[in-house]
Amino acid sequence: MIPSYYEFHNPVKISSGNKALDNLPYELDQMGASRPLIITDAGVVKAGLMKYVKSAFASSNVVIGAIYDQTPPDSSMDVVNEIAEIYRENKCDSLIAVGGGSPIDTAKGVNIVISENSNDLRKFMGAELIKKPMRPLIVVPTTSGTGSEATYVAVIADKERNVKMPFTSYSLLPKVAILDPRMTLTVPAHITAATGMDALTHAMESYISLQKNPLSDAYAFAAIAIIRDNLLSAVTKGNDPKVRLAMANASLMAGVAFSNSMVGVVHGLGHATGAVAHIPHGLAMSIFLPHGLKYNLKKRKDMIGQLLLPLAGEDFYLNTPKEERAQKTIEKAIEMKKAVNAACGLPGTLKEAKVDFDQLKSIANTALGDGTLLVNPEALEFSDAMTLLEDAYENY
Ligand SMILES: [Fe+2]
Repeated sequence: MIPSYYEFHNPVKISSGNKALDNLPYELDQMGASRPLIITDAGVVKAGLMKYVKSAFASSNVVIGAIYDQTPPDSSMDVVNEIAEIYRENKCDSLIAVGGGSPIDTAKGVNIVISENSNDLRKFMGAELIKKPMRPLIVVPTTSGTGSEATYVAVIADKERNVKMPFTSYSLLPKVAILDPRMTLTVPAHITAATGMDALTHAMESYISLQKNPLSDAYAFAAIAIIRDNLLSAVTKGNDPKVRLAMANASLMAGVAFSNSMVGVVHGLGHATGAVAHIPHGLAMSIFLPHGLKYNLKKRKDMIGQLLLPLAGEDFYLNTPKEERAQKTIEKAIEMKKAVNAACGLPGTLKEAKVDFDQLKSIANTALGDGTLLVNPEALEFSDAMTLLEDAYENY
């Protein structure tokens, strides 16, 4: 069904393939840039990935203006301002983010500071408050999960006030996303699993969101089918470039989907569990996904049933009576979670993840204030959150 009104926006150029990184100088040149600042982190350096980035510039007129490789996992306003200073000192004219969620969000934050010429990021917190044109930003993801290379969202910590600042603006969308399988080949199995489940959650929550639309649906469906065929292989045979490239594409597609439809209760609970019990985002998604689907069953039975097609494949879908499809989707999601966890030792419940049972009340209270609940089909009260959390404490 076509909604009475919707918007969809995805201007990110996608460059995907083996050695796609070699296109970096060309892409910069196309945007009139010749002196990029590269933002990355110590993990990327340690994994030896910067050699692929640097070698791309070997025989080109584009020179790397500077490299910042100390982005912390939970980036803050201070870090963003420090990097913006490096950008100015080195007369850079563009940004390249190489990494997982943190270097990408940090680069988006640096872009705000540079382009708006203001060191106070707080002024731009919220929705669509960025007015000046942004500098060219190219993103090279080194994990397959966040989808940040194709989203208009960034989250940066304000350590002084102890809050996470969310920024949403179409201006934050990168100009180019480069998916090169060499950049994810060495991601450890448990991170591959958790980030892959994050991507799956983006796609599934996008498809049942109140803000879904036909285009976000198309991206979500495509992402789920690719994840079905590749996630377990990526965990067990991580050195296969074809599988890694497939997961990178699925993660990006899921990012495009949820950037245009938002996510829901699984993310709401996950953000709260991250804040209260410091459970990594992907792991929280993996734990909560089946529970979130179950929770939305009453309002979204048909849509959850439709998800069986990409999640289980055509034969299974056609052989399942329509009435049973939603339940089977949940069972298939649990099956996938179990298989992936068995392959890498990822915890499957809050208890296994060593969350203290006494923390559940605090997690429930924190989740109630999460913005993702605004677009979740089913409303969430404290008692509902507790029921969900208690279920996820013990059960897959
Ligand atoms: Fe997520």
